[in-house]
This record gives sequence, structure tokens and C-alpha cells, in this order.
Amino acid sequence: NWTTHSVVEEQVAAIRAQVGTKRAICGLSGGVDSAVAAALVQKAIGDQLTCVYVDHGLMRKGESEQVEKDFVAATGVQLKVVEAEERFLNALAGVSEPEQKRKIIGREFIRVFEQAQAELVAEAGAEGEEVAFLVQGTLYPDIVESGGGTGTANIKSHHNVGGLPDDIEFELVEPLRQLFKDEVRMVGTELGLPDEIVHRQPFPGPGLGIRIVGEVTKERLDLLRDADAIAREELTAAGLDREIWQCPVVLLADVRSVGVQGDGRTYGHPIVLRPVSSEDAMTADWTRMPYDVLARISTRITNEVADVNRVVLDVTSKPPGTIEWE
Ligand code: XMP
Repeated sequence: NWTTHSVVEEQVAAIRAQVGTKRAICGLSGGVDSAVAAALVQKAIGDQLTCVYVDHGLMRKGESEQVEKDFVAATGVQLKVVEAEERFLNALAGVSEPEQKRKIIGREFIRVFEQAQAELVAEAGAEGEEVAFLVQGTLYPDIVESGGGTGTANIKSHHNVGGLPDDIEFELVEPLRQLFKDEVRMVGTELGLPDEIVHRQPFPGPGLGIRIVGEVTKERLDLLRDADAIAREELTAAGLDREIWQCPVVLLADVRSVGVQGDGRTYGHPIVLRPVSSEDAMTADWTRMPYDVLARISTRITNEVADVNRVVLDVTSKPPGTIEWE
């Protein structure tokens, strides 16, 4: 597609002109926008860009590997991975209330990310280089919604990182600001990113932390990851990925029900499937998906995931239900 090709050429030139010989940082979330923005900037300025990925331990099976291996392989980007699972789990211990979970995850994320950022700034400074740019995957609809402003991001650095100014000022690089989502996907493909990244369905920032109804623990996350991986596998095998907007898989960790399996009684947790059809996530309808696919998912989850003895289907539209359970 030569139009996509020219968008890439144009943006690469613009990024080079903007950044010059200085350095840039980009946070990766695992989502499409940050991945495509980073790939574009990498194409333009190569090793002057460093990406930061905070692994909060709340991602689905294989998603961190997708960023850490597949994305790096496809782009050759320099990546700083911050393993923060333990920190997030400690902060979430004992917390069940959804808004509180969201706040904790958001707060920890910003702290970890800013610390990584400050370290990179300090390292570059030691080499006599300056990190002056922050890459963001802002799309055209984001700009329209927020009234069109752009400029600089003022990031408070951590006081425990020695020798840094209190405020690090970054100029923003937003190479996707003229594009819509479908165009971003086309650019991603043009840049050689794998389909699993380019056509990823929406996934909330707080990750599986808000798909466990109840306290978030490592054991529960592992269980949910297994169930979610089975659902995704079967949906993909049935060719439903583009038809379904997204399908949250939710663990009702505080609920138990009686079942029978093999030679005995079980007392396990239910898993909820929440397939929805939507245009923009503002409203949604539950997806009337084929019964045989639901049956395969149900059979596999109850057979393969210990402690899950029941699979239920959420048949609520939005409104009144939200897409996520928390
Ligand atoms: P709800 O549950 O409000 O979700 O119907 C609407 C869409 O937003 C996603 N979502 C989030 N995305 N951070 C995000 O980046 C969040 O905290 C968050 N909460 C919900 C959700 O997956 C759906 O696509």
C-alpha cells in the first residue's frame, strides 16, 4: 500500500527533523498505539530511542514475551524491561474494591515508569547525551477529544535518584497524531510488526487486576491466565477475532460452587466469558457467538484449569453492564 508507505516516509523525515541528535524515550504498554509509535520512531532514529516496558505481572499469557521478544525482533529497538510483578502484588495485597485496585495499579505504574525514565536520563547524561523527547501514541481522535493541545510533558522525577533535576522536561513526539486506529494498524503492518500486536483487541491498562473479582494474588492470576489463553485460542481458531470487539475472561475468585468431576465432588470457582460486539466501547451488545465454540471453551477450561468447575456466559449489554466487570 503506497499511501501507508508515504505516511511512514513522511513521519520518519519529520521525526528526524524534530529529534536531531538527541535521545528519546517511549513507554510500551503492549497495545497497538505505543507499539506503532515506537516502531516509527525506531525506524527514524534507531538507537537514539529507548523503550521502557513495565511488567506489572497483570498481563495475559504470552503478552510480555510479545513485547520483550517479538516486538524487539521485529523492530530491533533498545528495550528496558522493568520487572515489577512483586511490587504490584504487594501493593494489591488484601484489596478487593475495584476503584481502589485501579488507583493502586495506576499509582505504582507511574512510580515505576518515572523511576526507569529518570535512570535512563541519568545514564544518558553520564555519556554526555541529553534525553529530550518522550514518544506517545496519541491518535487523531484523542487530539480532537482533548481540544487540540500539544507541547511538553512535565515529569516529576524521584527524589531518591541522585543528581537529577526535580523536573525533567520532555518534548513530545507524536507520530500518529494524524491517524485513525485502522490507519495505525496499516502503518504497523507496513513496519513489519506481527499481527498479534497490530490486531490486538482492546485490553485495559490495569490488566487482569480488574478481571479478578476479589483480591488479586499470583495463584489467581495464573489460573485466570490459563483460562483466558484457552478462550483466546478457541476464538482465534474459530475465526472470530475480528468479529468480536473483545472478550474479557473474568475470575469470580470469591465465589465457589459445587461440581462433580472425575471420581468426586469439586468446590471451585466460576469463570465468566464476556464476548461483546461494539463500535467504540461506549455501548456494546453481548455477542451471539456459536454454541459449539462456547462449548469447546467451556469443556477445555473446566478440564484444563484446576479449581475452575463452571463456565458462565455474560448476556448483558452495555448499558446497563460495563464491558469489564470492575
Ligand atoms: P468499560 O468496562 O468501561 O470499558 O465498558 C470500556 C473499554 O475500555 C477498556 N477499559 C480500560 N482501558 N484502562 C484502559 O486503558 C482502563 O482502566 C480501562 N478500563 C476499561 C475496556 O477493556 C473496554 O474496551
